[in-house]
Amino acid sequence: MATILEDTSRTFSEYLLIPRLTRKGQRADLVDLGTPLGSFAKQKTGRLKLNIPVVSACMQAVSGTQLSIALARQGGLGFIFCSQPIETQVEMVRQVKSHKAGFVQSDSNVQMNTTLAEVTELMNRTGHSTVPVTDDGTATGKLQGIITDKDFWEFEDDLQRTVGEHMTPYSDVIHGNEGISLREANELLHQHKKDCLPIVNNKGCLIALVFKKDYVDHQRHPMELLDESKRLCVGAAINTHDYKERVPALLEAGADALCFDSSDGFTEYQMEGTQWIRENFGEKIIIGGGNVVSAEGFDYLVEVAGVDFIKVGIGGGSICITREQKGVGRGQASALLEVAARRDAYFEKTGIYIPICSDGGLANDTQVVIALAMGADFVMMGRYFAMTNESPTPKTTINGQMYKPYWGEGTLRAQNWQRYDDGMSTRKMVFEEGVDAFVPLVGPLADVLDTTLYKLRSSMVNIGSDSLLEFRDRAVLTLVSEQSVVEGGTSSVFQFTSNREYEDKNWSGTG
Ligand code: IMP
Repeated sequence: MATILEDTSRTFSEYLLIPRLTRKGQRADLVDLGTPLGSFAKQKTGRLKLNIPVVSACMQAVSGTQLSIALARQGGLGFIFCSQPIETQVEMVRQVKSHKAGFVQSDSNVQMNTTLAEVTELMNRTGHSTVPVTDDGTATGKLQGIITDKDFWEFEDDLQRTVGEHMTPYSDVIHGNEGISLREANELLHQHKKDCLPIVNNKGCLIALVFKKDYVDHQRHPMELLDESKRLCVGAAINTHDYKERVPALLEAGADALCFDSSDGFTEYQMEGTQWIRENFGEKIIIGGGNVVSAEGFDYLVEVAGVDFIKVGIGGGSICITREQKGVGRGQASALLEVAARRDAYFEKTGIYIPICSDGGLANDTQVVIALAMGADFVMMGRYFAMTNESPTPKTTINGQMYKPYWGEGTLRAQNWQRYDDGMSTRKMVFEEGVDAFVPLVGPLADVLDTTLYKLRSSMVNIGSDSLLEFRDRAVLTLVSEQSVVEGGTSSVFQFTSNREYEDKNWSGTG
């Protein structure tokens, strides 16, 4: 006979945090949001630590190149979707890794005999105002000089003259030598008041450029999630069908973490996939497994399969209809609380810490706060990021409002990519587990995330905590009744729906 659990399946919106003592000097801007991504043993720190507890969902409508770059710049991690051919996913990973790497390969280069007209056209097309001049016009040719838009006047000089006549010759170019550190390169830029520093090898060939604007940019994004070579970090989703081909290509492209993308990860397929990666690439690779909603699922993926982090959540996603279609899933709060308790017990028993991720169904900022208070090490969100400028979908106007399309990975639309693959893997889809929808456009990722994280930091201060670990250790939560939810809203006041309406009524006090 089936087992019926005694507890009810609960969701985040049924809980509230009780404030604890806030100590003097505790401030939202001083709170540390760092959190581990990869598993680690006691006394050691996580192999990869996120600077904020947020990752983006492995979804076509969410985690493309631009979004992954924008999120890594804020300190989180994007997981580039795997519902696409291996080559295109690899290319996306490459693009994130090569973005503003500190040392960048020059993509606009000319030769001495290039005309000023041609270099002007190149500068206009690429937006680059500093162009290296090499013997063969490539990014790795022998460096002969540098030409910038300050070396000639587009409307005064004869544009049929050559670059060689206007450039700063190599002998006068301040440059760095191969092996120089980024700090040393920035010091040279500072000392010589330059905007761009070419780096050359011992044969005088160009190998990279370092820009002052990248340094300034980095100062403005102190939380950026960078690897040891100062490249942005990026994660990649994988599946249990083609991992033998996909994983080597993604690792070669520089993916910092892998994550199985599946609505139900409590399977022997994920165990086999994880073990294959371990056998071929060792323990260093960070592998996420899931999704699970029980301690039993956690045990299997950790003890039998050997994953590094666990995603928790089935059926809660905003575009998800798994529970309706299959009767499978669990309230996100109940699932998270059970798995977090098992993670803590496992740590107690073995000294190994396995981070857990609350994935899907976070409908507002408060739920992010509750998920982290309940023990999630980080959260994964789809809808939240699909609404930003940087998500990979086009902006669409509906009834005068801006929207973006957002669809589940379990829709026919997402699964269609296989038809364009090799023709071998076409699977007939009998029913869908997700819907195809639209979400309102909310603007740049940095702006919305900033607000969410500020609310999180403020809540953490209410609980008297300086770090996420302290937050969940000190958190005391209470279940709320339907009536107390009503009480939590506004009551007996009249609200305008917008400032505009307020001004239109001319009640601003000045009219
Ligand atoms: P959201 O943040 O509520 O939009 O949920 C995103 C999460 O929903 C993803 O990270 C996945 O775990 C899950 N998901 C994505 N596509 C589907 C689908 O088609 N059906 C069910 N769940 C999905």
